[in-house]
Amino acid sequence: MAQASLIKEKVDTMRGMEASPPALQLEITNACNGKCIICPNPQQTRPRGMMSFKLWCKLLHQAVELNITLLHPFWFGEPTLVKDFPKYLDAIGDIHPNAMTQLFSNCSNLTDEIGEAILRNNIDLLVVSFEGGTKQTYESHRPGLKWDKTVINVHNFVRKRNEAGMRIPEVFVQSASTYQTRAEFELLKAEFSDCNQVNLTALQTMGGTIDESIDVPKVRKNPSWPCMRLWSEIVVAWDGRVVTCCDDWDTKQVVGNANEQTLLEIWKGDKLRAYRDASINNSLDGLPTCSTCWYEWIGVPEWWKV
Ligand SMILES: C[S@@+](CC[C@H](N)C(=O)[O-])C[C@H]1O[C@@H](n2cnc3c(N)ncnc32)[C@H](O)[C@@H]1O
Ligand code: SF4
Repeated sequence: MAQASLIKEKVDTMRGMEASPPALQLEITNACNGKCIICPNPQQTRPRGMMSFKLWCKLLHQAVELNITLLHPFWFGEPTLVKDFPKYLDAIGDIHPNAMTQLFSNCSNLTDEIGEAILRNNIDLLVVSFEGGTKQTYESHRPGLKWDKTVINVHNFVRKRNEAGMRIPEVFVQSASTYQTRAEFELLKAEFSDCNQVNLTALQTMGGTIDESIDVPKVRKNPSWPCMRLWSEIVVAWDGRVVTCCDDWDTKQVVGNANEQTLLEIWKGDKLRAYRDASINNSLDGLPTCSTCWYEWIGVPEWWKV
């Protein structure tokens, strides 16, 4: 009985969270210059493209109206490859200056022009995705990218931020954890001692698409509690289609289209609700992404796990 009432309380809390999305992820592009062995980006079957500036601005305005404070201006691609990326960053500064904006990049194309746009628009966090503490490991984990260029770009950016007397963006170097990146973690920390943090993060299986020889953790699939991601963020692909979560990298679980619907309509819509219900009821069989997701459940609060 006590358990049943706890579950009811939790489901009620989750239903309350359906009032408005807490975070917004905008895929500026799914094109990439990397073929990282940790990432399913190269395996995408969907077309490559770039979000129109018009849609970008429209969604930023909706984020302001909905009081969405956490913004991720990227998803499954490399944002700095977009030719007008500074213009897209300026739109964040103009339309939603109070957003907590967290940008992830491989930083292989972090030019001075992009760096200046990051600084003038008060981007809060720059996550530099970087595996390995040596040139050899970096370039074998991130084929297509060059150690020397990326390292110089990051150090230049941090120096310019410091010279401008700015404390943001904080610069975090983030490495997915593999046998090799763990072994070289001290080297990585030494290389980026000028950055605010250097972290190892769990390597996800991404629906079983990552080569397990590099150390995909044997994370338990499908825990008994619902997937928090379905309540955490609304994720818009470059073409406006909205998916259930950021792990749906090949857009198999589309729940709406931001060209035709508002973010709030999609967030409260029947399609997303059906995924949430399936997650609450632990009936994920047949769902293309959820049924194969091996998301590592770090940071899930205790109350969620009833
Ligand atoms: C998909 S990338 C897109 C942004 C950009 N291209 C980059 O490399 O940061 C976003 C983040 O996902 C991480 N990532 C990709 N595949 C992963 C995996 N299998 N496990 C853990 N993190 C992964 C990347 O390292 C990166 O930090
Ligand atoms: S991790 Fe980033 S740079 Fe590497 S393939 Fe994926 S999207 Fe591209």
